Amino acid sequence: MNDSWLSTCFGFETAQILFSVLARVTSSADTLLSYGGKKPWQICRQTLLYIFLFYALRQMRKLIRKYGFKRAFQKIFLATVKNVARGQLDGECLKTRKAAEDAWAKIVLDAPQFNELPDKGIGREELLTMCKGWAAYEKKRWNGEKQFASGSVYHGEDGLIDVQKEIFSLFAVSNPLHPEIFGYTAKMEREIVRMSADYFFGTEDTCGIVTSGGTASIIMAMRTFKQWGFAKGITEPEVVAPFGVHAAFDKACELMEIKLIFAPLDEDTFTVKVGEMEKLINSNTIGIVGSTPNYAHGTMDPIVELSNLAIRKNILLHVDCCLGSLYYQL
Ligand SMILES: Cc1ncc(COP(=O)(O)O)c(C=O)c1O
Repeated sequence: MNDSWLSTCFGFETAQILFSVLARVTSSADTLLSYGGKKPWQICRQTLLYIFLFYALRQMRKLIRKYGFKRAFQKIFLATVKNVARGQLDGECLKTRKAAEDAWAKIVLDAPQFNELPDKGIGREELLTMCKGWAAYEKKRWNGEKQFASGSVYHGEDGLIDVQKEIFSLFAVSNPLHPEIFGYTAKMEREIVRMSADYFFGTEDTCGIVTSGGTASIIMAMRTFKQWGFAKGITEPEVVAPFGVHAAFDKACELMEIKLIFAPLDEDTFTVKVGEMEKLINSNTIGIVGSTPNYAHGTMDPIVELSNLAIRKNILLHVDCCLGSLYYQL
């Protein structure tokens, strides 16, 4: 507050009086509220500082309880670095977003957009004609005169699709959670699990579930790893995977709060260097990963060597067969 502002509003004399009253009030407040030789604003500043310190320490205690001492500090460090590098990260995110947007063909962008529930629904015929057109366009991209796709459609043969179509439609509404109603659906799931267990030399105790896809299976595997490690007292779990393993492992480990460590690949074969992987195993390691084959390079990791390593280190091994590879020549 200054003189000229007061004098413009109230006239010079009134302003002078107001100013001296204010000065007196401030100095009496200073005398009344001073404590230990500190003025009120100094006390306020100190109190705010203590509140901030108290809050920061409490947050830190929470982090340490959740992640342990080492990981909590790693997290704080990473968060600080991320904040500092935010500008650069934002730039990279924008680039990735632009690349994703540019991947959309114009014909798709020009198609009718449905961003809200329409007032009037689309009729069956219109809906089918529209979807058939879209499917035909997509099929041309992966199975047309020009084949654009590699590693996205794993079979695609018409005869198989016809059988799948019929079976899917027969069981479209079934839910194996209710075996008293959907007994055959539950039976099919059980048999897929038993066949797979038998194929991989499992015993009667070997168990499993059918998931909705590769990522879901990897999330299940990482959850199993984590539970297994937890039972052994490992509270800061780590998994070592070949560099370039499917991105689903990043997602699964983030969800399961597992630290994912990448082992380098052989520059000629693009498969994981088992010796290098071994060096990354420590007392927090709950498991390792290999792919048969890897997405998107199609390379086969040396599963037998990885299996021997896991046995020697008494940790778990997960083999990612999501590309559809049940068969592996030992
Ligand atoms: C080797 C591998 N792992 C994981 C996945 C993820 O599977 P999904 O896309 O079904 O979630 C894929 C899918 O292509 C894959 O090829």
